[in-house]
Amino acid sequence: MKHFLDIHTTDPAELRGMIDAAKSMKDARKGQPKGALDAEQPLKDHMVALIFEKPSTRTRVSFDVGVRQMGGQTMVLSGTDMQLGHGETIADTARVLSRYVDLIMIRTFEEQTLHEMAEYASVPVINGLTNRTHPCQIMADILTYEEHRGPIAGKKVVWCGDGNNVFASFAHAAGQFGFDLTFTGPEPLDPEMGFIEQARAKGSAVEIIRDPVEAVSGADLVVTDTWVSMHDPQSARERRHNQLRPYQVNDALMRHAKDDALFMHCLPAHRDEEATSAIMDGPHSVIFDEAENRLHAQKAVMRWCLGV
Ligand code: CP
Ligand code: NVA
Repeated sequence: MKHFLDIHTTDPAELRGMIDAAKSMKDARKGQPKGALDAEQPLKDHMVALIFEKPSTRTRVSFDVGVRQMGGQTMVLSGTDMQLGHGETIADTARVLSRYVDLIMIRTFEEQTLHEMAEYASVPVINGLTNRTHPCQIMADILTYEEHRGPIAGKKVVWCGDGNNVFASFAHAAGQFGFDLTFTGPEPLDPEMGFIEQARAKGSAVEIIRDPVEAVSGADLVVTDTWVSMHDPQSARERRHNQLRPYQVNDALMRHAKDDALFMHCLPAHRDEEATSAIMDGPHSVIFDEAENRLHAQKAVMRWCLGV
């Protein structure tokens, strides 16, 4: 069973194959209306369940459109409307859904929920974000970087801000795709050291540098994300803002990156908090290409999972 649960647990050659497949599927659609079917219909006769226990715009729409372009059908399910949200176990839900659908994508809170779904499902399961990781996002980000600047291997990626779930998947990807990663943020919001150690064990240079200017110097790619994630308590908002304000990505900071550095943000953004509008809409930014590439990258992930 090929689940797509995390980047560090997926074989690097297979990850590379997915990025290449995403690129060629994207190229093959150039000039087509968004609703046009792909020439190949690998998901014909396939039914895909998309489960959301948290809000979503990009993940929801890109998976739904991607399945349809490949000839499959979807059902988008809200966790609260399912018995899952009213006490039915994940294991039973996984076994029941596996009788109806060919593939399950789930966005949830605890990582344990994802792993239990994968353990008990008899169809592939895809991680659509947990409190700890967001691998589909980073597959889209790798595709985006490489479309603009060529191979990401050996490049310097700098993460500014909260050591959150999106950072974690970047750290997983650093090890698998062979790029270097610098984290700059306040110590209380450091990522789990385990994320950093696994990337180092695979040969990536991963550093924590408190001074954002020093960290961003010579960067090929600067990335940030919201200061308060969906699973963070709203009561932490003011404290987090105070801690993270020095790490805002703005013109003064971006000037220290390479001249041709890219800027990424998975979105949704809080404009003029973690990044200024001048940066988000400026010449370094590829944020909407990232959003588009969710579609293409995830189509490749789904094909890999299903072996079609
Ligand atoms: N980047 C991302 O996953 O966006 P959504 O929360 O809108 O799905
Ligand atoms: N870190 C953010 C990512 C949203 C796509 C969150 O978990 O809310």
